[in-house]
Amino acid sequence: MRVHVVQKNGDLLFESSSALIVPAWEDSLLLNGSYLHDNDELALQSLIDREIFKGKAEEHQVISHCAGAYDSAIMIGLGKKNESTPEIARRAAGALCPTLKTLRIKHLYLDLGEYGAFPVTAFLDGIVLGQYEFNIYKETPESGAVPEITDVSVLIGESADGAALEAACRVAVLMCLSANGARHLANTPPNEMTPRALADFARGIARESGCNCLVLEPEALADLGMNALLGVARGSAEPARLIVLHHHHSDTAKTIAIVGKGVTFDTGGISIKPAASMHEMKYDMCGAAAVLCTMMTITELKPPINVVCVVPAAENMTGDAAQRPGDIVRTYSGKTVEVHNTDAEGRLILADALAYTIAEYKPDLVVDLATLTGACVVALGHFAAGIFSTSDDLADDLQTASNATGERLWRLPLWKDYDKLIEGTHADICNIGPREGGAISAAAFLKHFVGDTPWAHIDIAGTAWGVPNTPYWNTKHATGYGVRLLTQWILNLAHKGS
Ligand code: BES
Ligand code: ZN
Ligand code: ZN
Repeated sequence: MRVHVVQKNGDLLFESSSALIVPAWEDSLLLNGSYLHDNDELALQSLIDREIFKGKAEEHQVISHCAGAYDSAIMIGLGKKNESTPEIARRAAGALCPTLKTLRIKHLYLDLGEYGAFPVTAFLDGIVLGQYEFNIYKETPESGAVPEITDVSVLIGESADGAALEAACRVAVLMCLSANGARHLANTPPNEMTPRALADFARGIARESGCNCLVLEPEALADLGMNALLGVARGSAEPARLIVLHHHHSDTAKTIAIVGKGVTFDTGGISIKPAASMHEMKYDMCGAAAVLCTMMTITELKPPINVVCVVPAAENMTGDAAQRPGDIVRTYSGKTVEVHNTDAEGRLILADALAYTIAEYKPDLVVDLATLTGACVVALGHFAAGIFSTSDDLADDLQTASNATGERLWRLPLWKDYDKLIEGTHADICNIGPREGGAISAAAFLKHFVGDTPWAHIDIAGTAWGVPNTPYWNTKHATGYGVRLLTQWILNLAHKGS
C-alpha cells in the first residue's frame, strides 16, 4: 500500500474506485474537507442535520452518487475532540474496512484540510490491520476476490511538514504489514509451521535484506550444551532449531537483543493438555513470529543500532523419547533444572536462548516475548500483555512504545520472594511453582538466565490471539502483537542514540 502526502490545494485527479474520507468530531460536526464538492457536502450535512450521523467514534456514513470526481464520500466519526487519542483513529479506520471492501475501494483520499492534529499514522494502522484476512486454505474465500486498498493519499494544508508526515506514514504502513506477516505465520497450521519452516522464513528475511542468518541444528545445539531446548523437542519428529538474525549497523556500538518463544505446537508433552482448546496451541510460536517480523521492519529501515533476534524453536510432543516429569536437564548456562511439568516448556527453551544470546552477542538490553503462561491470561485477560523487568528505564521505554502503538503493557513484579517458589529439590531450579502467581514465577525462572544484563520479559499469552473483536483485530486471527511495539521501541532507541 502506497501513501502519498498531497499539499497542493485545488484540482486533484481522483483515481478510479476512490473514496474521499472526511473526518468529523461529535462536538464539532463541521465538514471542512477542502476537496469535498459543495453538493456532496450538502448531502452529508443533511445526514448530520437529521441526526443520522452523530460523529461518534467508529461511526461512518457513505454517499455513493457523488457530484465530486471520487466514487464515494465517507464521513467518519471520531468521538469528542478533547477525548481524542490515536487509538480512536486506529479503530475508526478498522471499522471502515468492511465498508471499503463492499464498495470495492482501491484508492483512499483522506481529506484533512482543517484537521492539523489528526493522527494520520494511527488511521493508516487501522486500514492495514483491518484489511487482514487469512483465506489461503479455503476453496471459496469468504470475502470473494475483492481488491484491497493500493493507495492512500493524505490531503493536507500547505503549512504542514509534508515530507516528515510521508516518512512517518511509510514507517507505520511497514510496521503494520510486518504485523500482518506475523499474523500469517501464527495462523498457518502447525503441520506446516514447524521449527524448520520458521528457520526458512528467517533465511528469507536474510536473503531479501542482506542481514546475517544463523540456524543451529540439533548437533550444534548438543555441542553447545543446549539441553533444555533439546529436551523439549525430544518427543517430536521435528528437530529443534535455534534461529538467529543479526542486523548490524556500523555507526553504533549499541546492541539490543529480542528473543521469541517458538513452540510450533504445545501438546503439553507427557504432562498433556486437555483436548478442548489444544488446537489453539499452534499459536505458541507467536513470540517467535513477532520478533522475526520485527526484523522485517528493522532490516528495511536500517536504524543505527545493532539488533540480534533469537528464536528457540521446538515442537512439544509426546513421542517415546519425550522428556519426563522428574527429568533433570543441564542448561547451556550450567544451571540444572528439574522438569516437574513438561507443559512449562517455554521457559526451558527460553532459558537456553537467553543465556546463549547474552554470552554470544553481549547485548546492552534484552527483551523476550512469549506466550508463556495461562496465568497471565487469568491476571490481565486479553487487553494487555504482562511485562516484567529488571530495569525501570527499559520498562519505561517499552511503555512509551506501547502508548504510541496501542499494544498495551501492564507491569507485574519480580520481587525476590517469588524466587523461593521455584527452588529445585534435586537440581538448582524447578520449572514450575505453585498455581497462584504463575506468570510471575515463570518470569522469576527466566531471570536466572539473564545475569546482570537489563532485561524485560513480555508475556503475550493473552494478547497474541483470542482477543475479542476490535475494529482492526478479528478474534479468529492471531493479532501480530509485539511487532509494532518492538519496532517502535527500537526506532526510539536508535534515535535517542545513547
Ligand atoms: N503455552 C502455554 C501457555 C498458554 C496457555 C498460553 C494457555 C496461552 C493460553 C505454556 O507452555 C504452558 O502450558 N504453561 C503452563 C505452565 C504451568 C504448567 C506451570 C500453564 O500456563 O498452564
Ligand atoms: Zn506448555
Ligand atoms: Zn507453551
